[in-house]
Amino acid sequence: MRREVLRMGDARLLARAAEVPEFATVELDALLQDMRDTMAALSGAGLAAPQIGVPLRVVIFGGAGFNPRYPDAPVVPYTELVNPVLEPLGEQTEEGWEGCLSVPGLRGYVPRWRRLRYRGFTPQGEPIDREVEGFHARVVQHECDHLDGILYPMRIRDFSRFGFADVLAAGSAVRAD
Ligand code: NI
Repeated sequence: MRREVLRMGDARLLARAAEVPEFATVELDALLQDMRDTMAALSGAGLAAPQIGVPLRVVIFGGAGFNPRYPDAPVVPYTELVNPVLEPLGEQTEEGWEGCLSVPGLRGYVPRWRRLRYRGFTPQGEPIDREVEGFHARVVQHECDHLDGILYPMRIRDFSRFGFADVLAAGSAVRAD
């Protein structure tokens, strides 16, 4: 079932989410179903459980094929990630454009670690352990930030590249990279 996505300003987006205590439960399955439905309905690149008001460490992201909100982005494999742990690989950062379903209509240029190892579990409790870079690494960092109450505008350094997506696009300032 599609759920309402909380928008920036809602205090629930600023809280630290709790670890999921048990895998492969009816409750966790239902949460994932709602997250999938919500992300698909809104063409999101990712979604974190706190964005639909559930304070648990669960994120989903990626998916095969074209995403109209990120037409130039490389494909990231569809992933459901529970209790994630992130570890930057190297010191290198890079900036890129991001949007967020909790910050509708806006885009910002956000610094992130370029390379990343992330670990966690599927909803069934199978381990996930990946090393990724670029847009995949960016999406993971964005979604996992939600679990610690961090929204991407809090990470922006160059506020001259933060604005409404349609206005930025008209000025050719936005390239998904
Ligand atoms: Ni977001």
